[in-house]
Amino acid sequence: MLLEKGYDVRIVDSLQPRVHPRGKPDYVPKEAEFIVGDVANPEDLSKALEGMDFVFHLAAYQDYMPDFSRFIHTNTESSALMFELIVANRKRYPVKKIVFAASQAVSGEGKYRCVHGGTPVPLPPLGGSRAVGEYTSCGIFYPGPRSLDQLRRGQWDFCCPDCGGPAEPMLIDEATCNHPHTAYGISKYAIELLAFNLGRRYGIPTAAMRYTYVQGPRNSFFNAYSGIARRFALRIRAGLSAVCYEDGQQLRDYVNVRDVACANVMVLEAPQADGLAYNVGGGRAITVLDFANIMLKETGSPLAPQVPGEFRLGDTRHTVSDISRMRALGWEPKVPVEQNVREYLEWLDTQTGTDEYLFEAERIMKEHQVVQKADVARAA
Ligand SMILES: NC(=O)c1ccc[n+]([C@@H]2O[C@H](COP(=O)([O-])OP(=O)(O)OC[C@H]3O[C@@H](n4cnc5c(N)ncnc54)[C@H](O)[C@@H]3O)[C@@H](O)[C@H]2O)c1
Repeated sequence: MLLEKGYDVRIVDSLQPRVHPRGKPDYVPKEAEFIVGDVANPEDLSKALEGMDFVFHLAAYQDYMPDFSRFIHTNTESSALMFELIVANRKRYPVKKIVFAASQAVSGEGKYRCVHGGTPVPLPPLGGSRAVGEYTSCGIFYPGPRSLDQLRRGQWDFCCPDCGGPAEPMLIDEATCNHPHTAYGISKYAIELLAFNLGRRYGIPTAAMRYTYVQGPRNSFFNAYSGIARRFALRIRAGLSAVCYEDGQQLRDYVNVRDVACANVMVLEAPQADGLAYNVGGGRAITVLDFANIMLKETGSPLAPQVPGEFRLGDTRHTVSDISRMRALGWEPKVPVEQNVREYLEWLDTQTGTDEYLFEAERIMKEHQVVQKADVARAA
């Protein structure tokens, strides 16, 4: 998209084996300069930045595994290093704006509203140790991560922390939803804090993009931990059904990679976008179960989705982004989920050796207890 718009483009990528085990992908345009390098390495980043007017910092480590320090090193440290280099030598690095890849993970578990809206109701048995009717200030709340104990009981949803009654998810906004609870989300929030504060102090315009679940062709199927489309599609191609975590009722808003690219370029070119975070989502909430059904339908599979009561540590319950800030810039997600799925499947059909990457990911996540099964008998 940048090349089409007439920019000269330089890419730096360390070609991580878990994302690109076959080396540099052949879809990388020849017109773009390509440097193999690590963005957290001062020499490599220095080479990448030299003479550049604008930067998209997209390189990242993303995973569900417990290697917490790597998120900070690859994602956050590299961002701080970028400022360090630019501030030290503005002539060599004449950067006029940096757009950082943040994530919906910055929002943590998002935002909820007590359904009873202020009326005290009796606490359910698992609602905590507080007395019935003790809390009347029900309203909006931002839950922290669900405890392992809660997940093991198969108690997927959040209750109102005040009255213990049911709560409903609200759209996630950029202004108030800043409660990351994974090392990945924290690494991305730290990027935002660095970007806005250092950027402002040193006169380097910045923006941060909080993508939701990005889908479409070229999404690496090697990467064991990349999205739901990969997981479901590889299983269906192996003659198995899609397995949904929890009860499959989690709400998500999937967004297409071309819509994401448009959002990136729009924010880069809009001076009024400086100094802000932007939610970039699909604008439509669908459940994981619905997504499984869309994929089964698109592949023509007669199988039904499975919901065996497994859960994955670090997953959020309901996360649907409010995209009005992006919309105010004139952006709109154009590709519906069904087309996302179709495009991904068409691309996957052109790829070889996909099956070997399916079971390994599942095995590793179970081995590290990242994926566990709820104790349904105990929950009952
Ligand atoms: N895909 C999503 O759904 C999603 C959602 C929210 C945010 N994001 C963010 O968007 C960005 C792009 O995501 P993606 O899905 O394309 O990721 P990806 O894992 O598919 O690709 C990341 C790329 O970064 C490269 N890389 C990793 N570490 C590097 C390093 N130290 N130096 C140089 N290159 C390195 C990898 O080789 C790979 O090409 C990331 O910052 C990610 O955190 C993605």
